[in-house]
Amino acid sequence: MSAIYTKEVTTHVGRFSLHDISVSFEVGKITGIIGPNGSGKSTLLKVLTRLLSIDKGEVRLNEKKLHEYKAKEFATTLAMLPQSKGVLPNLTVKELITYGRSPHQQLFTYRLSTDDKIAIEWAMDVTGTSKHANRMFHTLSGGEQQKARIAMALAQQTNLLLLDEPTTYLDISHQLDVMEMLDHINQNYQMTIIMVLHDLQQAAKYCHHLITMKKGAIVTTGQPKEMITAQFLQDVYGIEAKVQFEDGYPIIIPIKTIKNGRNS
Ligand SMILES: Nc1ncnc2c1ncn2[C@@H]1O[C@H](COP(=O)(O)OP(=O)(O)OP(=O)(O)O)[C@@H](O)[C@H]1O
Ligand SMILES: [Mg+2]
Repeated sequence: MSAIYTKEVTTHVGRFSLHDISVSFEVGKITGIIGPNGSGKSTLLKVLTRLLSIDKGEVRLNEKKLHEYKAKEFATTLAMLPQSKGVLPNLTVKELITYGRSPHQQLFTYRLSTDDKIAIEWAMDVTGTSKHANRMFHTLSGGEQQKARIAMALAQQTNLLLLDEPTTYLDISHQLDVMEMLDHINQNYQMTIIMVLHDLQQAAKYCHHLITMKKGAIVTTGQPKEMITAQFLQDVYGIEAKVQFEDGYPIIIPIKTIKNGRNS
């Protein structure tokens, strides 16, 4: 069953266009969107989250057309964590996470309901951010900030979570931490996760399904273990690489870029 699907979607931003995007994101699964810089991954997430309107085609969320959702209903169905661009809000961690509850709150009511408090505690608990609750967000390390941002999205209590490069700027141990946490959330709370990733080995380990974009189109979809081959790396990223398998997971050994091969 699809949590969200697009049918023949075409749209544009500036001179860039997404063309003929037909793709389905399955309920309860983790789907990774991969592809070179500038291939349209963030633009596709913007379409799925209504930040960008479409010129042609259709997008359905839980079978209902995207544009038929009222703002509040939409925000309680889907949460999005945008690509981190170094914006540091002048808030404590708890205040930031509390923002995730705004779609659930009544207009002009600033008091937190019991449901709000339970959701905030749960989000901090799952992400291990309770210990930083009263710290200013900007004083946290990059990894801790990322967990706090994820907690804010979780406090929204949706069944669908979209993340744009959740592990960028993190060291390998914090990357693992964030991926393990998302895996835990997917398995224990049946949350459908769609995320843009650059690390193909991480994508292979944590995603049930992968979608590859290039030049504004979807070029391949499928199981990570079958998709990531030397030929794939050449076709999509324009690199020569060896791919070996260890415990069923691909290990990529880059060799060199192929001249004129890289095309976003
Ligand atoms: N608002 C905009 N105006 C003009 N061009 C844009 C705009 N937003 C995106 N683009 C262009 O569209 C193309 C795709 O951008 P997008 O952000 O979707 O790429 P991406 O696959 O997410 O790349 P990255 O891996 O670097 O994040 C890029 O060439 C980008 O410069
Ligand atoms: Mg992007």
